[in-house]
Amino acid sequence: MTDTPDLSTTAAKIADLRARFTDAVVEPEKIAQQKQHAKGKMTARERIELLVDNGSFVEFDEYVRHRTTSFGMDRNRPYGDSVVTGVATIHGRTVAVYSQDFTTFGGSLGEVAGDKIIKVMEYALQGGMPIIGILDSGGARIQEGVLALSKYGEIFRCNTRSSGVIPQISIIMGPAAGGAVYGPALTDFVIMVDKTSQMFVTGPDVIKTVTGEDVGMEELGGAYTHNTRSGVAHYLADDEDDALDYARTLLSYLPDNNMAELPAYDSAFEFETTDADRMLDTLIPDSANQPYDMKTAIEHIVDDGDFLEVQPLFAPNILIGFGRVEGRSVGIIANQPSQMAGTLNIEAGEKASRFVRFCDAFSIPIVTLVDVPGYLPGTDQEWTGVIRRGAKLIYAYAEATVPLVTVILRKAYGGAYIVMGSKQLGADVNLAWPTAEIAVMGGQGAVNILYRNEIKRAEEAGEDVAAVRTRLANEYTYSVTSPFLAAERGEIDGIIEPAASRVAIAKALRSLRGKRSELPPKKHGNIPL
Ligand code: HXC
Repeated sequence: MTDTPDLSTTAAKIADLRARFTDAVVEPEKIAQQKQHAKGKMTARERIELLVDNGSFVEFDEYVRHRTTSFGMDRNRPYGDSVVTGVATIHGRTVAVYSQDFTTFGGSLGEVAGDKIIKVMEYALQGGMPIIGILDSGGARIQEGVLALSKYGEIFRCNTRSSGVIPQISIIMGPAAGGAVYGPALTDFVIMVDKTSQMFVTGPDVIKTVTGEDVGMEELGGAYTHNTRSGVAHYLADDEDDALDYARTLLSYLPDNNMAELPAYDSAFEFETTDADRMLDTLIPDSANQPYDMKTAIEHIVDDGDFLEVQPLFAPNILIGFGRVEGRSVGIIANQPSQMAGTLNIEAGEKASRFVRFCDAFSIPIVTLVDVPGYLPGTDQEWTGVIRRGAKLIYAYAEATVPLVTVILRKAYGGAYIVMGSKQLGADVNLAWPTAEIAVMGGQGAVNILYRNEIKRAEEAGEDVAAVRTRLANEYTYSVTSPFLAAERGEIDGIIEPAASRVAIAKALRSLRGKRSELPPKKHGNIPL
């Protein structure tokens, strides 16, 4: 006969609650700390505590337990199962959080852990708050079979329904194996911790068996791989603290949901041209082939020079990220002339188009800075689908209804001119620096085609061919690529001194605050995927 506790009084019931809370949360947390700290990692709850405002976390479902009986599971039914969920605040704004607990069944996802995650995801969707998932999991719980798989399906559906409604951020702090990778892949931003997080659909052992390839876990799906090669991840964190810090900063730029106002911060915006602004007047080298760092331009345009770069290690020939102008968030997209001369390739196009769509979904105005000599030529690009995949950026800009402000700093050639936030794709304010060159192609390329006969004649006459080429290229550049030609046609709205850019962009964004633009009614478009 078991002893039935006397719970006839209120005091006894409260004492019972405290004892149960100790059993469900306090004691397991101590054990989890021992296990995780030994590996240099934090526990699921510690990660949440560090992510959110001090003491703001309210946990859900800490008494939930699995119902599986096979494989002796009925003798091991830990409270809360393998995930900690709840709501909290970050910078005083409400967010929903889930954090997988690797110390419980390897953070694997069974029926009740899945239900916990789905519950908090739906809470976030209905409440219009961002959701942050911290992943550390061996994937589908092997003992639970189809029940585990079906919960992944429900999570993916919830991710998809939430896409474009609430910001979704995934922080990978351990393994994310098998189908577990697709939850994060469906979210807006994936942050990975260097050396301690891995994502892969099939692990090294399976790969070895099926294809014979020998590859280690880190090389296959480590944080560096996904930040530099695959483009799956958006930030390579040095450690867990850095990952959580990046997520907090990222959130400071984002609205709570697609219907909410953008966060606005106090800003001592200077409407007069400053000495710092004047530094832009010397940014563009006299030689058109000399690179410069586009980040300098960005940092001179956003408030306090604060630019939060996204995906800095992937397709570095294009820069994406967030800044503020007059205290309000903007998304920045800019060619980077110091990497591959700023050419557009498949990776750059996909990186930028997803970012355009994110900003558009959450009404974050987009500032585009252009210096692009064209698309990267080559069979590799053509055969891996630069037509289909390059079309995404056109689609993304053309579909965007948020305020779009574009400044052409230097080159804007060919299709790349059109793609990079041109007026024809729907940009609202298009400006150019006097250093801009807008044409089908650059002077040298044009001379090779247009003046083939003149160059041949000069060769035959024994003239200085290089000098002839330069003269003809300069003539072409002056008469065809000049931004004044585009301005004469209204293709761009104004030509500004570089030093005037910060204020001109701010004024343009200010004038567009009330912009209203809608797409024709449709179920959804069919972006080339
Ligand atoms: C149940 C699991 C588990 C899982 C790990 N564990 N993964 N339990 N289901 N999927 C348990 C282990 O048995 C162990 O329990 C504890 O978690 C810690 O695991 P270790 O292996 O000791 O840890 P480590 O050496 O760090 O290795 C971590 C790991 C490895 C790389 C994640 O555990 C692993 O490869 N797990 C299986 C991964 C996998 O194939 N998952 C299924 C993917 S398929 P004890 O009791 O010993 O502490 C999938 C389909 C989803 O996810 C499809 C959706 C569409």
